[in-house]
Amino acid sequence: MAVHPAVVRVHHLLQQPALQALKGQSLLHLQALPPASLEALLQLAAQLKVLRQQGVAYAPLQGKSMALYFQQPSLRTRVSFELAATELGLHCAVLRQEEVGLGQREAVEDVARTLGRYVHLIAIRHLEDDLLEGLAQQSGVPVINALSRNHHPCQTLADLQTLAEHWGGFNGQTPLPPLCFMGDAANNVARSLMQGCALLGLPMVLCAPAAHAPTEAMLSEARALAQAAGTHATFVWEPNPTKALAGCAAVYTDVFTSMGQEAEKAERLAALMPYQLNESLLAHALPTALVLHCLPAHRGEEIDAPTLERHATTVFDQAENRLHAQKALMLALLNPLAAPKEPA
Ligand code: CP
Repeated sequence: MAVHPAVVRVHHLLQQPALQALKGQSLLHLQALPPASLEALLQLAAQLKVLRQQGVAYAPLQGKSMALYFQQPSLRTRVSFELAATELGLHCAVLRQEEVGLGQREAVEDVARTLGRYVHLIAIRHLEDDLLEGLAQQSGVPVINALSRNHHPCQTLADLQTLAEHWGGFNGQTPLPPLCFMGDAANNVARSLMQGCALLGLPMVLCAPAAHAPTEAMLSEARALAQAAGTHATFVWEPNPTKALAGCAAVYTDVFTSMGQEAEKAERLAALMPYQLNESLLAHALPTALVLHCLPAHRGEEIDAPTLERHATTVFDQAENRLHAQKALMLALLNPLAAPKEPA
C-alpha cells in the first residue's frame, strides 16, 4: 500500500538535523529552542494536521508512555495532550496534584526518579518554574512545560501555527507586520509569545498600563533572543492602545487575571479594562487584523462577546492547533527516526 504523502513529509522532517537535535531534550520554555527547530516543529505540526483531517492513522510511538500532570485546572491542555498521546500510540497516565502532592506529599526528586522509571515523557502544568527545572534534571526523561507561572510554550507553538496558516507562512512578507499583545503583557503567555516571535522574526507591540507592562527582563530577553537568532524582531511597550494598534496585523489578548492571581482580580480589572478588545479598539488595527485568544475567555473583561464571536475561527484554530503542535513536539522529543547518538 502506498504511504500517504504527508507521512513521507513527516518522516523527512523527523530526519532533519533541526528536529533530531530535540530528541531527549526538555521544553520548559522557548529560549533554548534553535530557530530552525521551531520552524521545523511548525512544519511537522502542519503535516500532522493534514493526516488527522484526512483520517489517516499515524501512531509511531506505540509501546511508549507519558505522564500528564496538573497542579492547575485545564481544558485544552488536558484534552489535547491526552488525545495526542492516544493518536500517536502512547499510553498516557493523567495525574493531579491532589493525588500525587508533588513537592508536598513527596519530594520532587523522588517523584522525578519514580516517573523516570515508568514513562518516556512528562508533560506538567505547575506554577513553579524551579520545580519543573528540578523534574527535568532528575527524571532522566524529556519534560514539557504545559504552563507555569512564567511560560506557556505549548500555547505559543499553537499560536504560531495558527498565524502561519492564516498568513500563508512567515517568509513571504518582509518586513512582517507587527503583532500586538493587549492587556496583561507581563504574563506567561505574553512572555512565551515574545520568545517565539523573537525566534521567527515577528515584531511585537506590548500594550499595557505601567503596572502590567512587560518587565525590562522580558524585553531584554526577547531582544537578545532575536539578535542571537538574527531575526531583527522588535519588542516595544506602548501604554496607549490606539497608538499600539496602528498597523498591527494581529492582536492577541488573554485573561486579565491568570491562575494564581485571583486575589488581585479587582485591581487588575480596574487597571486593564481600558485595554478590553472590542470593535472600537480594533478599528485602530489593520482592517484584516486577526484576533487571537488562548482561552478560556472572560467575555466582558479582556474581550467583549461580539469581538470574540466575530473572530471565533482564529481563536478555535488556536485551540485545535494545541493538538497538532503538541503532537509535533512529542514526536520530536521521542523521535523514533533519530539516528542513534555517538557514544561520548
Ligand atoms: N489555553 C490553555 O492553556 O487552556 P487550558 O487552561 O484550558 O489548558
